[in-house]
Amino acid sequence: MSYNRTLITAALPYANGPVHIGHLAGVYVPADIYARYLRLKGQEVLFVCGSDEHGVPVTIRARKEGITTQQVVDRYHELIKRSFADFGISFDIYSRTTSAIHHKLASDYFRKLYDEGKFIEQTTEQFYDPETGHFLTDRNIRGECPHCHSLGAYGDQCEKCGSTLSPEELINPYNAETGNPLVKKPTSHWYLPLDQYQQWLEQWILEQHKEWRPNVYGQCKSWLDGGLRPRAVTRDLDWGIPVPVEGAEGKVLYVWFDAPIGYISNTKELCDAQPEKYGNWETWWKDPSTRLIHFIGKDNIVFHCIVFPAMLKAEGSFILPDNVPSNEFLNLEGDKISTSRNWAVWLNEYLDDFPSKQDVLRYVLTANAPETKDNDFTWADFQARNNNELVAIYGNFVNRALVLTGKYFDGKVPACGELNDYDHQTIEEFKNVKATLEDLLNNFRFRDAQKEAMNLARIGNKYLADTEPWKLAKTDMQRTATILNLSLQIAANLAIAFEPFLPFSSEKLKTMLGLSDSIGWEDLGRVDLLPAEAKLGEVSLLFEKIEDTVIQEQLDKLARIKAENEAAAKAEALKNWQPVPVKAPTTIDDFDKADIRVATVLECTNVKKSDRLLQLKLDDGMDGRTILSGIAQSYPDPSVLIGKQVLYIANFPPRKMMGIESQGMILSAVDADGRLVVTTVTSPVRPGAQVG
Ligand code: MF3
Ligand code: ZN
Repeated sequence: MSYNRTLITAALPYANGPVHIGHLAGVYVPADIYARYLRLKGQEVLFVCGSDEHGVPVTIRARKEGITTQQVVDRYHELIKRSFADFGISFDIYSRTTSAIHHKLASDYFRKLYDEGKFIEQTTEQFYDPETGHFLTDRNIRGECPHCHSLGAYGDQCEKCGSTLSPEELINPYNAETGNPLVKKPTSHWYLPLDQYQQWLEQWILEQHKEWRPNVYGQCKSWLDGGLRPRAVTRDLDWGIPVPVEGAEGKVLYVWFDAPIGYISNTKELCDAQPEKYGNWETWWKDPSTRLIHFIGKDNIVFHCIVFPAMLKAEGSFILPDNVPSNEFLNLEGDKISTSRNWAVWLNEYLDDFPSKQDVLRYVLTANAPETKDNDFTWADFQARNNNELVAIYGNFVNRALVLTGKYFDGKVPACGELNDYDHQTIEEFKNVKATLEDLLNNFRFRDAQKEAMNLARIGNKYLADTEPWKLAKTDMQRTATILNLSLQIAANLAIAFEPFLPFSSEKLKTMLGLSDSIGWEDLGRVDLLPAEAKLGEVSLLFEKIEDTVIQEQLDKLARIKAENEAAAKAEALKNWQPVPVKAPTTIDDFDKADIRVATVLECTNVKKSDRLLQLKLDDGMDGRTILSGIAQSYPDPSVLIGKQVLYIANFPPRKMMGIESQGMILSAVDADGRLVVTTVTSPVRPGAQVG
């Protein structure tokens, strides 16, 4: 490990919506822990991020909200930037890909590769709207599904039957926005011939980076095993960075070409503005003694491990990433987080509901970080980790040490007397905390590292519980002084150990302890951090208990969102509904075999232990009969059917269900959303009347 500085990047979030806990857990908290840790170790670090403002998603959002794309990116760039700042994500720069510096750098980058013949040009037939003069992206093309024949399937997927599609397969494709029919038209684009980098990538990743996380390495291997193909780096779109080639009007750089170059542009923007502080941007990107680390989510792996490195290699003067610690996904209460379905905990809303509790969320997200597999965020777990860990262990320990010192020693650090065996044993337990933490952090194991920091609080808590200084204070002030001195020293260690993870709480704790700024990471494990007689600051609680009612409010909010989504899905189903095709021809003789009759409902109740069946007692004009019908879901109040006349088949053989004999079948219509509606006659008839 010989490097002089570390350049840390965190994936540039799309400026098409606010950021949520999934973003924070997957990318930004781990990246921030790492950046803070290296800075605390006194290393030279640059932590770079910004908004990803090009691509189709922002244009879709603009259309949805009825505003311009520029307005969308302006709005979300500010909101996202604010959220990151609020959560203490310590970027050295958070810029944006619509900046002039980025446009120029990305454009020059493309032009250089173009001039050096690093691209291939290919012409393909793409869907085109002659009316608007636009080529369309897959998602903006709709048409009839070739499999289930529902109308309105997308160019990449039919949401009705779930099949993956390509726009070519759609029957009668049309422009999703205008409804105009589409035609095929040839268009030419530039491709990065990834196949030419295959061998080099295999060598570089599969041989030289076996230490990458198994999920990252595995994904790279399967891409490489599948064989790489040329990838288009330009698009027919009017939002983005214009392709700097004559005759390429109406074409822009593909968003995944320009966005990673944003890491470079943002570095340049910062260094050009403050060269004395940050040096020359090229040192960060071209000096082999710079170590480049990309923090990303798993959907970004191929772009950061294969495409972007190939782009860097093609350019020739840049360093390559040293590691790409990628996380899996975080779910929310068992369901995939989704911006479009509003299934998320948005950072701005969290802070409205939990003001100044940034560290609680940071703690929970790290404790539950999806480092090796997808993980679930639940409000119950959030509450438990706050109440049982932050409050009951860390907060409780620190508070007891501080309050007792206030009570018995006038808020001044008491002098440490002679240490006994138990003191030595306690010190022994955490003297390796620095080495352990460093080993875990160096290997991007943030979850375990934070556990280790919490373990230090457990040691402190146990020490106080075992030594009971509040009892000793009555008889042995000297011993009480030693115990509290050591406890305060442990608290000081906690402030340092937790600093990368819970920066706000560490700051607060340091102030309460009056810990000198000259004390830092390198002093971890020492028990002489606070000099005797030093005055403590004002004491307040580090963490507060979160009550059930507060958690219930969050659960209610999610339940409301779920209900809204279900209603929207139903409305969507109704909108797209079409009758099923008419059955094969039949004859009156076949129809006549079924004896369809009218009966009046006398009683209608739920069948015990069945959420599907209703039991109907009918007046059939004869001896009466009982019929079971699977319509319970559609009739939450079965009594509404009492007195109604219904149609039923009278000559089906009796059948037993749930121990009850059913003597026929009620006829119902199925609505577009699957709801069953029982059929009836338009004016009363005698029970037993035949239908035909
Ligand atoms: N905007 C992309 C996403 O949210 C990430 C871009 S990362 C970069 O998935 F490297 F391209 F910047
Ligand atoms: Zn379909």
